[in-house]
Formats: sequence, C-alpha cells, structure tokens
Amino acid sequence: MSNTIAVYNFKGGVGKTSTTLSLAYSWSRAFKVLVIDCDPQANLTQAFTDQDHSETLFTITKKLLHNDQPKIEPLEIHPYLHLIPGDFHMTSMESNTEFISFGHIIFYKLLSSIRHDYDLILLDCPTHFGITVKSFIANINSILIPSTPGSFSVSGFKKLLQYLSEVKKDKPLEIIGIFFNQYRKNTLFHQRIVREAEQELGDLILDQRIRESIRVSEANEQNESVYSFTDESAVAEDFLKLSEEIIERMNRVNLDEALNLIKGEKVKG
Ligand SMILES: Nc1ncnc2c1ncn2[C@@H]1O[C@H](COP(=O)(O)OP(=O)(O)OP(=O)(O)O)[C@@H](O)[C@H]1O
Ligand SMILES: [Mg+2]
Repeated sequence: MSNTIAVYNFKGGVGKTSTTLSLAYSWSRAFKVLVIDCDPQANLTQAFTDQDHSETLFTITKKLLHNDQPKIEPLEIHPYLHLIPGDFHMTSMESNTEFISFGHIIFYKLLSSIRHDYDLILLDCPTHFGITVKSFIANINSILIPSTPGSFSVSGFKKLLQYLSEVKKDKPLEIIGIFFNQYRKNTLFHQRIVREAEQELGDLILDQRIRESIRVSEANEQNESVYSFTDESAVAEDFLKLSEEIIERMNRVNLDEALNLIKGEKVKG
C-alpha cells in the first residue's frame, strides 16, 4: 500500500512543483512512484513531457462523478515513474455542485483503485485551498510544506495547519515538515529567518535546505530532472538529501501533535 504525500503550501511560487518533480525522480530510483498533477496550471505535467494527454485528472474525475469505473492508466515517464497529468479544465470542477459534495469520495475511489500499484504517490497541489486540494487532503497520509525564506512566517504556517485541521479525515494527517527552498546561505536575512523558524518550530523544520539555482528552472523548461545535468549540480545533491530525509521522517508527527507543538507559542508575524 502506497504512502500518499501532498506537496502543499497556500503561498505561490515557493517550489511545490519543482520539489514534486525532483522528489519523484529521486524516489523512482528505488521505489515505484506515481505523481498526480492536481494543479490546473499543469506546470508539473509540462515539466515532465510535451506530449498531449487524452486521460488527465479532469477526465478521470468526470468519469468517476458519472459513476463510471474508469480503468486508470497513468502516463509512463519511465517504468518506475508514472504521471496522472493535470488539466486546465479542472478549474471548472471547483464550482461543480456534485464535485463540491462528493469530491472526497471521488478521490477516495481514485486513490484506492491505484494505490496498490505504487510505493509512493506524490501530489503537486495548486495554491488555492479549494475543493480539489481539500478532497485530496481528506484521503492522503502526509503533507510536505515547501517554503522560501522570503515568504515564511510562523503565523502563516500556523494558519496553514488550522486550514488543514478543518478538513475531515478518518486518519490523522502526518506533517512531514517544512523545508526552505531558494535558500541563499550567504545572506544574513535568510540565515536569520531559518534560525528563528527552527527556534519556534523545532522538529517541524527539515534540516535539508534547497539552494537557489538556475538549474531548477532549466530542468523544468527542458523536460528534464535536476539529476540529468552532466556537471555535478549542487542543487541536485540538495534534493537527493531532502528525499532521503523525508523517507527517514515519515510517520513522525501528526497534525494534532503539530498544532499542540505550536499552541501557546509566541507567534511572530
Ligand atoms: N531552488 C530554486 N532555485 C531557483 N529557482 C527556483 C528554485 N525552486 C523553484 N524555482 C523557480 O521558482 C519558480 C516557482 O517554482 P515552482 O513553480 O516550483 O513553485 P510553485 O510553488 O509550484 O508555484 P505555483 O504556486 O505557481 O504552483 C519557478 O520558476 C522555478 O523554476
Ligand atoms: Mg506549482
């Protein structure tokens, strides 16, 4: 049975898509991985492939809403890495009354029909905390939260945990933790933000940071992974270490514990 992990933050441009892409490539060296592009922008899909896709998250959702039992056949990026592509039309689902009522059941059906085929299922989520994100959160095990030193605040993180806790779930959501992306280690400002975050949130901050590197944008643009560049890429090493740290951390802190950890803390804006 696979572990299902959403890469989510309600802040935009923090590296949700780039992280999903790199973790997927990294883990697919050892595990069978499925990636679901939940974002109607479909940036992740475009980063994987320029191919057209007849079956997307939208077409699958539509069939499930009509009570069809679609045979779900994700796109093969390579034998250990599969993708359910994103689709702009998914935006229309956010105002579909049936999806609003039954989205969590639809995604339960979707995930239960495929989760036995994979070791890990990774979800690249849109920024908007709408029905799509909530319905997936209701059905997954864990959440990984990318942040950047420039956009991070403890109060923002606390608000995010509160949003997440309002989603009804059968099992507690595991908080894998927050990690800092686009980190510049020689910048005093970045050092201070990370130090303060670690002081306030302790174990919820992952040790590994991802440096700022043009390689990330180049990889996205060239349908490649950061690991495919022939020169030694430091940012690829960062992502590899992050993927190892996450595997080690899995099943450590659930959402209630995370909320308790920050409860009563002096919150900084
Ligand atoms: N470590 C990094 N170094 C340099 N650029 C980065 C890094 N991580 C991400 N980027 C760039 O920052 C931009 C935003 O990254 P990305 O699309 O992964 O964020 P996102 O959170 O998925 O954004 P959105 O909220 O639009 O979905 C992209 O242009 C990406 O190439
Ligand atoms: Mg994105």
